[in-house]
Amino acid sequence: MTEIRVGLLGLGTIGTGVARILIEQQVLISRRLGKNVRLVAAADRDLSRDRGLDFSGVRLTDDANDVVTADDIDLVVELIGGYEPARTFVATALEHGKHAVTANKALIAKHGEELFPLAAEKGVAIGFEAAVGGGIPCLKALREGCAANAVQSVYGILNGTCNFILTKMENEGADYADVLKEAQELGYAEADPTFDVEGIDTSHKLSILAAMAFGSKIRFDEVFTEGISKITADDIESAAELGYRIKLLGIAKPHGTNGNVERVEMRVHPTLVPVHSQMAQVSDSYNAVQVSGDFVEHTMYFGRGAGERPTASAVVADIMDIARVCSSDGGPDEVKHLAPAMGFVESERRDLETLAVADIECEYYLRLMVQDQPGVIASVTSILADHRISLEAMSQKERSEANSVPVIMLTHETSEGNLQAAISRIVGLQAVEEDVLILRKESAVA
Ligand code: HSE
Repeated sequence: MTEIRVGLLGLGTIGTGVARILIEQQVLISRRLGKNVRLVAAADRDLSRDRGLDFSGVRLTDDANDVVTADDIDLVVELIGGYEPARTFVATALEHGKHAVTANKALIAKHGEELFPLAAEKGVAIGFEAAVGGGIPCLKALREGCAANAVQSVYGILNGTCNFILTKMENEGADYADVLKEAQELGYAEADPTFDVEGIDTSHKLSILAAMAFGSKIRFDEVFTEGISKITADDIESAAELGYRIKLLGIAKPHGTNGNVERVEMRVHPTLVPVHSQMAQVSDSYNAVQVSGDFVEHTMYFGRGAGERPTASAVVADIMDIARVCSSDGGPDEVKHLAPAMGFVESERRDLETLAVADIECEYYLRLMVQDQPGVIASVTSILADHRISLEAMSQKERSEANSVPVIMLTHETSEGNLQAAISRIVGLQAVEEDVLILRKESAVA
């Protein structure tokens, strides 16, 4: 039986999970593949910690360079995370003719466009299923299962930390800061939660999904990104009264003419979704991805977006996909039997523009703090009317101790540029405070 020999970088939570699967599920994997996947070496700076696994027969090292250049390794699994040194290790592995598998969304979002051509030049594969949606096989579904479709939209709840926080705020009426603290104490949120709560992690994942959906290059830096840190328990309650739930969504849509995609819309922000939609039911730390295509219509993929076992499951599925067509005694043509990493052959991937933020069209939720005086609402709605912005609903909360009261408005569809122009005039009104919360609404989620 032929085999593929694996080297692992990082024996943290996910690395330990991958080692566990490769050791404990060896027989099942061989039965599914018709060949062996053998863990040959693993590198970690801390080898003293007991991972509860029998590593006999596995070369353990504290130097990752030993793994990425070793002659007896066919495939390197990078589970260090972050941009560097992960980028250097993966690039070195590819340069040495090794396949690479990673769970690192930051790496793919930021450096994928240099790693894909390098892999192609060397005739090796790069897999990153675990980078988006953790254990959910959503990239494979988009890349292969939905391959016959022109994709019309992608929506995702892609960050478990944010979904956990928003769910708890909703269920308990609790404040953001208190729930974040609790999430940190429980180990759900990082000590520095910025990447998660400010939407950056979701943007990494969305930029990968968008490029795979529309055959474009990954443009992570151009994703319009807002996090959840300004959402209050009152906003969640107001949204619920209007029939919506607030989720941090990644949203990608194609724009163009005659079926040609010319620009890609990419945005990440807290979003009002109809309370009865499937997306609204995705709670706690779960993730979900909705892909809609012109033939298949709506599809949705749900599951664990993080954690040792789900993420390791996706990493090993990638290893098995590569092992299915490649082996230690094979040649560079083998990877041609794999679906292209980004779902389109490399020469057909386009350097498409990102839709300008001002041109994004959606419906809005506005929270204005206004003085409770005659004529204030009339002044606000008159400005909205000047900008041809139509209101769907409005509510005013009772007077608080402060002089200002929150007024919630739901608008019909308008462009971001038009909305912002109206808001800059509204905050110029003497009776309106400057701090306006703008949330966006998506009625089209399934
Ligand atoms: N930090 C991510 C989350 C998991 O909270 O979902 C890894 O992508």
